[in-house]
Amino acid sequence: MSLVNIIGNLFGSTPNQPKAYAQYGLDELNSMTFFERAKLQDWRLELVTLGFTGVFVILFFIGDFYNKSLVTGFLNGINDTLKQNFYQVGVSKDELYIKDSSENYSSYATGRDNISRVNIDIKLRPRHNIFVWFLEGVISFFTEAVKKPIDKVDIVIYPSFAYDNFISAIVSKLGMNDYRKFNYFLSLTKTSDSAKIPESFVFMSEGNEFQEKILTEKLLSSLDIQAANFIRYFAFTDQSTERPESIEGFAPLRRVVVSLQIPSSKKDYEQVCKLLESIFDIIDKLASKEISFKPESLKKVLKTRENEIEKVQKAMELEKQEIEAEEKAKLKREERDRIRNLSPAEQAKLEKKEQERKQKKLQKKQRVRM
Ligand SMILES: *[C@@H]1O[C@H](CO)[C@@H](O)[C@H](O)[C@H]1NC(C)=O
Ligand SMILES: *[C@@H]1O[C@H](CO)[C@@H](O)[C@H](O)[C@H]1NC(C)=O
Ligand SMILES: *[C@@H]1O[C@H](CO)[C@@H](O)[C@H](O)[C@H]1NC(C)=O
Repeated sequence: MSLVNIIGNLFGSTPNQPKAYAQYGLDELNSMTFFERAKLQDWRLELVTLGFTGVFVILFFIGDFYNKSLVTGFLNGINDTLKQNFYQVGVSKDELYIKDSSENYSSYATGRDNISRVNIDIKLRPRHNIFVWFLEGVISFFTEAVKKPIDKVDIVIYPSFAYDNFISAIVSKLGMNDYRKFNYFLSLTKTSDSAKIPESFVFMSEGNEFQEKILTEKLLSSLDIQAANFIRYFAFTDQSTERPESIEGFAPLRRVVVSLQIPSSKKDYEQVCKLLESIFDIIDKLASKEISFKPESLKKVLKTRENEIEKVQKAMELEKQEIEAEEKAKLKREERDRIRNLSPAEQAKLEKKEQERKQKKLQKKQRVRM
């Protein structure tokens, strides 16, 4: 039995119809109504296709709706804190967020002392497309090129004033190796356990002084052991997320990156809001120089940047040499091909010339020796 027949049986029709459409005569067909004629055709395959399409469309809308509800849920959860701090919350006066696609949303806040803007990027599982969701999930097991689909929120806060460059982060132990691997700026830090923070977190920073001065009372009160379930990491940094491939890539871009899972309870949201508020406070303290760092600590930071720039310069130099060597080899090959394509007489002439040149060189050498 074919698949179509099996499915046909499920839909209640018999696989063997008494007489197919083509077997009816023209007179017979003409005497039937439209519906009687349509009934003669076998529509099962079309029905199955239509059924699958329908299911896919319905799942699309369910997934899309669910993702949207996650986004509004999250933005509502931090709405009050943002409203208290910023003049404008949302991408425009009457739009809280932009939907880039069913899985990418972004929002924005601006208008506060000492902070120029806050970007909120929400990346969700592709729930609207179960095939992509499933495939990404499977493929991510085998290759790093495809990342495992997860729900995450990155809040990036840009201070509006210049301060000393440094990197200091508090990172959840769940996934800390991945965060280090996929964030260039974290790879520049030293990881250390500390009794001062809940044991589900570690410090990743460029020096003790940074991590200790950033750890204010208020910040500490927003963290507990459970918080590592929805706080992936937060980091003060001036370096980029991607490893720079040119010198310009090292130009400082000072910001605070807060990377989160979507919190699931009211208590989690309270902690997230407290964390954001404490970070705004720290930024104010950096602005007023209430938090500042010793020259020794800053010298170390500078040294790290210089070493990194040197590495890239070396790599660029090496690449340049390789390209030059390749070009030289290519020219040589072309010259050889050119000679091979000359007529025998011309080749003989060229050989003679070469011989003479060698002769002259030899004579010159002998003269020098004498
Ligand atoms: C955000 O909070 C304000 C009041 O603080 C409220 O008027 C507004 O409707 C809220 N917006 C959303 C999208 O929840
Ligand atoms: C979603 O955003 C990520 C980066 O945040 C980007 O790489 C990806 O192409 C975006 N996807 C869509 C469908 O816009
Ligand atoms: C911003 O920083 C200045 C110091 O440069 C400080 O006086 C002011 O209070 C800060 N703003 C807020 C909202 O704390």
